[in-house]
Amino acid sequence: MISKYIFGHPFDTEAVVEAVEIKSGCPETGTFDFSDGFCFTCPLEKEDRVYGLGGANRGINKRGYVYESDCSDNPNHHEDVRSLYAAHNFILLTGSRLVGLFFDYPSFMRFDIGYTRQDMLQVTCKEANLNLYVIEGDSPLDIIRQFRHSIGRSYIPPKFAFGFGQSRWGYKTREDFRTVVKKHREHHVPLDMVYMDIDYMQDYMDFTVNEENFPDFAGFVQEMKDEGVRMIPIIDAGVKIKEGYSVYEEGVEKGYFCQKEDGELFSAAVWPGYTHFPDVLNKEARAWFGDHYRFLVDQGIEGFWNDMNEPSIFYSEEGMKEAMELVAQIEEKGQENVPFFQMMGKLQSLSNSHEDYARFYHNVDGAMIRHDKVHNLFGYNMTRAAGEAFARMVPGKRFLLFSRSSYIGMHRYGGIWTGDNKSWWSHILLNLKMLPSLNMCGFLYVGADLGGFGCDTTRDLVLRWLALGVFTPLMRNHSALGTREQEFYQFEDPQDFAHVIGVRYRLIPYLYTAYMKAALTDDMMFKPLAFVYPEDEMAVRIEDQLMLGDECMIAPVYTQNADGRVVYLPERMMFVKFLPDGSLYTEIMEKGLHYVEVALNEVPLFIRENCCIPLADAAETVETLDTKHLSTVGFDGASFTVYDDDGFGMEYEDPGHYTTIK
Ligand code: GLC
Repeated sequence: MISKYIFGHPFDTEAVVEAVEIKSGCPETGTFDFSDGFCFTCPLEKEDRVYGLGGANRGINKRGYVYESDCSDNPNHHEDVRSLYAAHNFILLTGSRLVGLFFDYPSFMRFDIGYTRQDMLQVTCKEANLNLYVIEGDSPLDIIRQFRHSIGRSYIPPKFAFGFGQSRWGYKTREDFRTVVKKHREHHVPLDMVYMDIDYMQDYMDFTVNEENFPDFAGFVQEMKDEGVRMIPIIDAGVKIKEGYSVYEEGVEKGYFCQKEDGELFSAAVWPGYTHFPDVLNKEARAWFGDHYRFLVDQGIEGFWNDMNEPSIFYSEEGMKEAMELVAQIEEKGQENVPFFQMMGKLQSLSNSHEDYARFYHNVDGAMIRHDKVHNLFGYNMTRAAGEAFARMVPGKRFLLFSRSSYIGMHRYGGIWTGDNKSWWSHILLNLKMLPSLNMCGFLYVGADLGGFGCDTTRDLVLRWLALGVFTPLMRNHSALGTREQEFYQFEDPQDFAHVIGVRYRLIPYLYTAYMKAALTDDMMFKPLAFVYPEDEMAVRIEDQLMLGDECMIAPVYTQNADGRVVYLPERMMFVKFLPDGSLYTEIMEKGLHYVEVALNEVPLFIRENCCIPLADAAETVETLDTKHLSTVGFDGASFTVYDDDGFGMEYEDPGHYTTIK
């Protein structure tokens, strides 16, 4: 049962789309204090665990730290970072009580989950203007299902988006892209997508293509399609300020960019230099921005990634002016008296500063709303702009779309990737831990930059990370300019990569089915073991294994120089290893702790008792995957119902999409 409590005058985030019963007063879940904004407190008993917060940092069980919903472009996902790119304010308490809470508030919010006091959960925000949804149910999954139902069906990508994608910030010319594709085809490494980072644009201007590097862009997109590969360009939030650039000129003329209090346009420097932000919270501006995707859609593009949409600000005109003034003052005083820390502090705080977020406004149905009060909705609405536009442009067709920043509600329009991680072993584990939290909040099409975005990677790290990535809906190797190149062909023994990525394709019938099931029944594709084995003391504490679909458990290796790992089996399972010669190693293992050996070029998977999963034969693109002739692996006598469709349409409920195999 879901109840809605309205405090003050909430901004309508449109996160919840189903009608929910409104209750007056305060729920009994905790105590409320409105003396200084909004403060919700509830005691935490020793056995309580707290789940949720989607794209937040750290563990699956969120207890023991403090998290902030404050969408931020922070490429340093250290353990102490309190806010990353997303604001997903849904938490679930289990243990002495069972309740789900969604704090629908679009600005800065703090979740102190046993940090200040181990026995206290406290959720605070500055203004007591929010909707609180309290969800009761029989089990964590029951609560999550109800919550997910209330926020609307999760985005469903086209089937090709379940293939493998190669990306790198730095690919510039047609030749660069052709090389990527050629290498994959030469070594029989499957490939469905190549991502185009900012360099495909002219001077980083959205909805332009560098004509020198791509004289016939549509022709090039088709050439790649003929190779079975789709090009997926990036779109950034900021629109470059440049005379003669039609998107900029139109936006200014129509008043579709965010303004300051005095009516001047707000200017923020990002990759293209100074830009204006499209006012995606304004319906007309959102439609206008979305319509621009047509420029690329008309040239054959079927997928996009939306970036820098926290929105990221390197510096603003105002911030830079203040910094320059400070430097001028310092210069006057002479070098002996440099207030070093003050100067460094000012320069370091130029980016993504809260002061800047308070300098501009959105026009929401005629009301001017200061950005910081709705900050966490920007990425959501930028992606919504695209999603709504695709539905107008090509009704009934699925597009690939994912975003860096998000709020709950955006899960209806696209997926997300988890931003600028690093080539660190700990980030494989962070990637795994985020998956169930994201699913709880509606985000099913998710994935991390496999191999790590920042820092120099290593061959073993890429392989181990890919062996987790074979299970994540978005499977993409992406890295930053200036770091060690990490396409498979940069390393020895390319056949190892061909094998690991190949396993993904053999699993697509299973993964696609698990995804569709999760999307169509408001279920999670990845669950913590705690949700499936709540009575098992050991299982509820596991943070480095996940349940996948209804039939599998995954337990990737995430430490260097390991030849395997310890895994806990909460029930009898079949241990399956995809061996490099294409065969399978299988062993039935009893409930309990085991050490399993997994070589760098193997992919481990566990199948639950009395279950089986379908396997396809190897293929190099999703399109050429033979989904009609499947084999199975698992327990004798088990059957599995496979979902399949044409990969683009939206008639998901058609019973013809389901086939049961034994
Ligand atoms: C941001 C994105 C990253 C991209 C880079 C350049 O850092 O998160 O994925 O490569 O910008 O566009």
